Amino acid sequence: MVKPLVVVEDLTLAWDARVIQRGLNFEVRPGEVLVLMGGSGCGKSTLLRHLIGLQWPAQGCIRYGDVDLASADEAQRDQLRQHFGVMFQAGALWSSMSVGENVMLPLQELTGWPQAQIETLARFKLALVGLEGAFDASPAELSGGMKKRAAIARAMALDPPLLYLDEPSAGLDPITSARLDDLILHLRDHLGTTIVMVTHELDSIFAVADRALFLDAQEKTMTALDAPLNLLHDGPEPVRRFLQGRARS
Ligand SMILES: Nc1ncnc2c1ncn2[C@@H]1O[C@H](COP(=O)(O)OP(=O)(O)OP(=O)(O)O)[C@@H](O)[C@H]1O
Ligand SMILES: [Mg+2]
Repeated sequence: MVKPLVVVEDLTLAWDARVIQRGLNFEVRPGEVLVLMGGSGCGKSTLLRHLIGLQWPAQGCIRYGDVDLASADEAQRDQLRQHFGVMFQAGALWSSMSVGENVMLPLQELTGWPQAQIETLARFKLALVGLEGAFDASPAELSGGMKKRAAIARAMALDPPLLYLDEPSAGLDPITSARLDDLILHLRDHLGTTIVMVTHELDSIFAVADRALFLDAQEKTMTALDAPLNLLHDGPEPVRRFLQGRARS
């Protein structure tokens, strides 16, 4: 059995005293696309914030290899941050900077590389997401889909082996959304990137997920984790309904 990249054990997510999810147990396997799904407000973004160390568990732990995120020291955490890229739900680019400068920012902050090398790399990342011409553009000149792709290029700037994406295709038209799915599969298949992605777009779930984890808002825990087709056929009733697009969860 291959060693998991991330292990989540008995995790409880809470905002102040309010428990959002409890009893979460799962692992992220190298080279997989793991989708986090569930109805609005069930805690997907909150789970992502915990996985990247922006919020601490009310209970349980998140381990990267032998490092427990909550008890890691600053140096270990810095090292972990280089290990993963993040695209937040808002996916915002800094509007005062060009698209290229946005992608260069993490490289400037986290490496000591010369400017010319950083620029070459940023151009390469933009080309990878099909935005080779957009280096000098201002974010305001980009369409919604292009902005999302630029935000993914920025998340990938340091070649992280692990990418966290929060609703990358929300609000995009079906064709742009399908292109984004292709990009995600390209990253997995050609760069070996492991991807943890929040989405409730059904087409996306079936197109890209190796496994999907369902957070149930009523039960306040995960009620399923499997390949989406298995869940569609044999999952618990609320998960099947969710995947059939028939009901709110
Ligand atoms: N900053 C915050 N302070 C307090 N409670 C919050 C905060 N952010 C989110 N919550 C609460 O945590 C719960 C989960 O929110 P979260 O944003 O993780 O859901 P989600 O599954 O990502 O929803 P969506 O699909 O709408 O993005 C919600 O009940 C929400 O009200
Ligand atoms: Mg969210």
